[in-house]
Amino acid sequence: MRYNLCMRILGIETSCDETAVCLIEAEGNFGSDFSWSLLGNALISQAAMHAEFGGVFPNLAKREHAKNLVPLLKEVLHQMDILPLPRTVLGTQRTVLDEVMQREPELLAQLIPFLEQHGKPDIDAIAVTYGPGLEPALWVGINFAKALSLVWDIPIVAVNHMEGHIVLSMMEHSDILKNVRVSEFEFPVLALLISGGHTELVLSKTFDEYRLIGQTRDDAAGEAFDKVARLLGLGYPGGPEISRLAAESRLHGLPLHTPTLPRPMLREDNFDFSFSGLKTAVLRLVEGKELSGEEKMGLAREFEDAVADVLVGKTMRAIEEYGANTVVVGGGVSANTEIRRRLASTLSTANCQLLIPPPELATDNAIMIALAGYFHALKKEYADPATLSAKGNLELTT
Ligand code: KG4
Ligand code: ZN
Repeated sequence: MRYNLCMRILGIETSCDETAVCLIEAEGNFGSDFSWSLLGNALISQAAMHAEFGGVFPNLAKREHAKNLVPLLKEVLHQMDILPLPRTVLGTQRTVLDEVMQREPELLAQLIPFLEQHGKPDIDAIAVTYGPGLEPALWVGINFAKALSLVWDIPIVAVNHMEGHIVLSMMEHSDILKNVRVSEFEFPVLALLISGGHTELVLSKTFDEYRLIGQTRDDAAGEAFDKVARLLGLGYPGGPEISRLAAESRLHGLPLHTPTLPRPMLREDNFDFSFSGLKTAVLRLVEGKELSGEEKMGLAREFEDAVADVLVGKTMRAIEEYGANTVVVGGGVSANTEIRRRLASTLSTANCQLLIPPPELATDNAIMIALAGYFHALKKEYADPATLSAKGNLELTT
């Protein structure tokens, strides 16, 4: 039996190279009466497949999402022990399904037998990422959500992926993810969002209100990690590889023979970033050279230091300008140990609280989508399936 004021939200994330599905149960408004539990969670990372392209290849991502979604949904439903249910008879819904899934024939081929074998699970709403991200990839998740919403007759919540990172970062840390509560913190909150596609500073004076105050003018921080890793002959994704080399260099106390790299826009009086010049500076240093292991380590370390200096410097500038009491950090790059360490030590001197998810929740997942979706579902902010579409460049400003 479940408490009748709580909601069960199915989360779906397909904006980049992670296909993820989860189910959460949540109750209460944002604040002290809110709590949530994870009932099921499944994720397939396509990172290894995209490695040979040195980045995410949109059509490959789309194909893999289509292949992964039904198996992941099955796994999530099994984890919450509600299968099997009485069969669903599709009847006339079949024709509408064919129409909704016109562009997803592979996904439809798996979905029809799944729906026919299983009944409607005990779920109140479906939260799906509708942007920002790669549009072909986003569409797969959206069409999947539309199909499930139609057959199960439950509403869809369209979620901004970046809001997902922010909301998850605001939760307490817990190993078991049962009865998790909101962390104790004060607004204004400054969110530093650092991923493969984004580098943004977002200000929230209250929950649910966002103002974009700065962003990258060219490459995102994660993209710079990935490109520099490629220049150094390292694998994809580049962030963890660079971080590993840099840590080794620090551990051995190796002298830095590397020339100092630029700290782009650090001294400029704004909250924007630029990382493409940093990548070009590394290119100049490695072009036509065979680097030794030690040289690679030194460059990885100097590059990581440069990115960390800029991210921390700009965040501090924004804290001062807007009187932020809390900084939340989200996105894949926030898994970086050195950046975490620097943010923690600098913010503690500024009397500003730092909220940062554990590294395994810092990268893309469906939990963040289900959580952000829950708060919209509470306010009955549902999407119209007829007009819901992917928004690759969706901004986070309310
Ligand atoms: O948020 P995310 O999983 O996906 C999106 O881009 O939305 O972020 C992926 C990015 C990649 O560019 C990857 O290189 C970077 O996060 N990343 C890291 C680390 N782990 C992942 N960057 C630096 N250090 C890390 N430890
Ligand atoms: Zn992300």
